[in-house]
Amino acid sequence: MNSIAVMTSGGDSPGMNPAIRAITRSALNQGLRVFGINRGYSGLIIGDITELKSNHVTNIIQRGGTILKSDRCLAFKDPIVRNQAAEILKKHGIDGLIVIGGDGSLTGAHLLTQETGIPVVGLPGTIDNDIYGTDDSIGFDTVLNTALDAIDRIRDTALSHERIFLVEVMGRNSGHIASQVGIASGAEMIIVPEVDFKLENLCFSLASQRAQNKGGSGIIVVAEGPVPGLTFRLAKQLETQGEKPGVSILGYIQRGGRPTGHDRVLASCLGASAVTYLLAGFTDIMVGVTNSQITTTPLQDIVEKTKPLNPDLVELSQLLHK
Ligand code: ADP
Ligand code: F6P
Repeated sequence: MNSIAVMTSGGDSPGMNPAIRAITRSALNQGLRVFGINRGYSGLIIGDITELKSNHVTNIIQRGGTILKSDRCLAFKDPIVRNQAAEILKKHGIDGLIVIGGDGSLTGAHLLTQETGIPVVGLPGTIDNDIYGTDDSIGFDTVLNTALDAIDRIRDTALSHERIFLVEVMGRNSGHIASQVGIASGAEMIIVPEVDFKLENLCFSLASQRAQNKGGSGIIVVAEGPVPGLTFRLAKQLETQGEKPGVSILGYIQRGGRPTGHDRVLASCLGASAVTYLLAGFTDIMVGVTNSQITTTPLQDIVEKTKPLNPDLVELSQLLHK
């Protein structure tokens, strides 16, 4: 293997830049040439590829977003297009590819290597932390801290005005962000797509909180879920019960910002390991972290399996509000 390429794909996440830096520097240090593919699979299929030198990744470790840009590329779902992509990689003399992204991006990576034989290693890069085979994904720690900072501020107002606030965090298909942010912010209730929820329970919980003299304020953390507008619908329903809830949709501020120290170290370790595995002849795997150890998981598993919410955390969040 003489040359490798790296790309970022799907929703960006804080820590993608430190991962690009680690991949570039560790590959260069092992005598490889390194190429950056711009705009994920969209750039790959049109050959938007630039060589990366050490100076290209200088001063990016502290920056959110991704210097390689990211995109969603529907065309890559077509096997003919994936074959064309493999030809483009060969034309550039690229012998292996590292894809940093969420489960969609890693599905594309799996199909590319299966169908064309191009060696591909994936890295979990998503704030959602919903990828099977890794405890932690690049960007998750940063989003926890960003959302937490916002909720701590909202709680000040909730306490001053003795109001209930519904705070919506990202997570279209998963409640990993909501579950952990909810615990860390001491939220009175956490609503996630994985756990059935009844409005009666919410009203009961608010009423019992007041009965226990815990005051009239409270934070309800809501994962956005698959159907837009959930949090506003919940607020409307609460209004019919005589509440006056405030609503805050945290939105895209969660995807940007400086990666935390944890995410920088995670991205650096995973980036360097991805190069090691690619050079050692591995393909069709994701490099992740399990119980603080670097681990690998077949991309096939990532395509087929979903990562469940940690049931202990769900139980804990309920226990701490009884
Ligand atoms: P994420 O990687 O953050 O989960 P997406 O699910 O939007 O984000 O996927 C990012 C990109 O990965 C898609 O736009 C597409 O290019 C590629 N991709 C996703 N699913 C597939 C698939 N089933 N087959 C091929 N490529 C896919
Ligand atoms: O990056 C993951 C994610 O933040 C999901 O939680 C969210 O549903 C989605 O991206 C929204 O991103 P976009 O609007 O770019 O599709």
